[in-house]
Amino acid sequence: MRALARLAVTTLLVAAPLAAVTVATTTASAADDPAPITVLTSDFEDGTAQGWTGRAAETVTHSTAAAHGGAGSLAVTGRTAAWQGPSLDVLGVFEKGTAYTISAWVRLTSGSDNARLSVERRSGGVAAYDQVVGNTAVTAGGWVNLTGRYTLAADVDFLRIYLETGSTTGDFHIDDVTVSYVPALPIQTDIPAVRDVVDEFPVGAAITGAEIIGDHGLLLSRHFASVTPGNALKWDATEPSENTFTYAQADPLIAYATANDLAVRGHTLVWHNQTPSWVFTGADGQPMTASAEDKELLLARLENHIRNVAGHYGDTIAAWDVVNEVIDENQSDGLRRSDWYNVAGLDYIRTAFRVARDVLPDAKLFINDYNTNVPAKRDKLYALVAQLRSEGVPIDGVGHQMHINVSWPTLAETEAMIQKFVPLGVEQQVTEMDVSIYTGSGESFPAPPADRLLQQAYVYRDMFALFRRYASEITSVTLWGLADDNTWLDTFPVTRKDAPLLFDTRLQAKPAYWGVVDPSKIGVSPSGSVSPSGSVSPSGSVSPSGSVSPSAGVAGCSVTYRVTGSWSGGFQGEVTVANTGAAAVSGWSLAWQFAGGQRIAQLWNGSVTQSGAAVTVTNASWNGTLAPGGSASVGFLGSRTGSNPAPAAFTVNGTACAVL
Ligand code: XIL
Repeated sequence: MRALARLAVTTLLVAAPLAAVTVATTTASAADDPAPITVLTSDFEDGTAQGWTGRAAETVTHSTAAAHGGAGSLAVTGRTAAWQGPSLDVLGVFEKGTAYTISAWVRLTSGSDNARLSVERRSGGVAAYDQVVGNTAVTAGGWVNLTGRYTLAADVDFLRIYLETGSTTGDFHIDDVTVSYVPALPIQTDIPAVRDVVDEFPVGAAITGAEIIGDHGLLLSRHFASVTPGNALKWDATEPSENTFTYAQADPLIAYATANDLAVRGHTLVWHNQTPSWVFTGADGQPMTASAEDKELLLARLENHIRNVAGHYGDTIAAWDVVNEVIDENQSDGLRRSDWYNVAGLDYIRTAFRVARDVLPDAKLFINDYNTNVPAKRDKLYALVAQLRSEGVPIDGVGHQMHINVSWPTLAETEAMIQKFVPLGVEQQVTEMDVSIYTGSGESFPAPPADRLLQQAYVYRDMFALFRRYASEITSVTLWGLADDNTWLDTFPVTRKDAPLLFDTRLQAKPAYWGVVDPSKIGVSPSGSVSPSGSVSPSGSVSPSGSVSPSAGVAGCSVTYRVTGSWSGGFQGEVTVANTGAAAVSGWSLAWQFAGGQRIAQLWNGSVTQSGAAVTVTNASWNGTLAPGGSASVGFLGSRTGSNPAPAAFTVNGTACAVL
């Protein structure tokens, strides 16, 4: 994942679908998947509404005014609210634990809006709404497809799929709705369990409700020694309205963990995402400000939340991410300007840890964040933890999320990340590891290419070898998901099928699994891109702090990388680096890693060194000063073998840059 690119999209998570006890992700079938079995089709070709009804008093009728395929569709008219729309009873159609792909075509009668596809389920009269496909732009100009994946994970007595719009109440049509699934494969029982091979620390997986059922549950308890509920313990899931606590999502997961002797990491008590807006609404109904009353109310709500949620599970959850993603390395004090910070300053972090310690004297309390391998961010996190611990704030450990990709970061940067925190005497845990097959937001593959899966296997191999070497510091390593059929990266940072985990969409072991368990079985090296003896060799990488001392770091930078010409075996490129900080930069050193074995032959407007995949370009004498908003470009000729992927990440003077 690109370092700073993530920041821009993090806020989207607030609106992201809550997987709840279901899996809802977009899908693309792998090339070797068997043909899906279709369990439901609504083509509206027989002149009827084929069982579809409205959700309220709106009218749902067969229509020939528009059709996606054939001559008929379903029209919905007379809506008085955006949530009204066509709905179909699917009780008995969806089998618990099976991952279905739901596809529907939508066209508005006029105007434009978003459309969503969801499932309403009820158990014992209690309703839950699972979003399968989130807001997708639709118009009157053409048909738009909504496709998503859904796994029913609870016993239900009511189950309907439905479509609605984002904000307007105009008429719309749907057509060619299908529900299908790819038959599951039994899990492999003749391969070593990850938890047996890696026994220096518990290896965990983040889970939603669907992962404790059927083959998923068997895979989970066979290979993993720890679980983290991926969404079920977040604020919106546990205290959706003030002082109303519900553990309906989390309790089944924790009960499964206890029954199967799995440790549990609690995630997370305080975050700026997935937190209901009432938390930051003052007694006067207005958004809170930094006033004394608002701060007091916010900290009281925080305390009440932690006492209830942490108290509900007591010692069953022995490690908690007390605060999540509080660092912003672009702020001079290193603190993210979240609603928490804006109302309560640093006191929200102090309060969170102190209350958590009071409720859970024996639990390990973590501060968790992403991109902790980026020197600027890592250093701000370090400074915060050092300060708070010196004040007596009970922080036991640092959580490194480790959302990485096949070509970023280097092993050396990751080792530097671990080493940085050793002098603090804190525990370190890898809390959310996944290795995207993508090296940039522009890429999208219908199925994971073999060479990316091999690169990924080498990354898992090298990273796990590193973690095991540092087992005296690292007390747990959790992957952010069980298998590639349910990964948040299918919709983050853009919608496309990703494959970041150890098991594939059919729960079978990938090369990545062998990278962790027995690297001699990974398979052949991908041509040119990754050496079998080290995909991210420490000697071939850029020094973690950059070739320029961190004190000469930049506050913010962006990089544009363009291939301006390409021919067999070679290419020409241009890289522009811009200073997006407020202060001038005097002398710059730009670094990146090539992911496809490219070599630079000649470079102009700067000087270049290349060691393995690692390239470092320093300014020429005339373009070393970058005023705020200023930029400089270098051009180069390079050699290539096969594909020519753009580097995923760039640093200037050790600071990760936004990639444009
Ligand atoms: C993600 C979940 O996996 C998604 O299902 C949800 O829609 C958004 O949040 N960093 C974190 C996790 O700390 O809580 C996030 O989990 C992934 C990024």
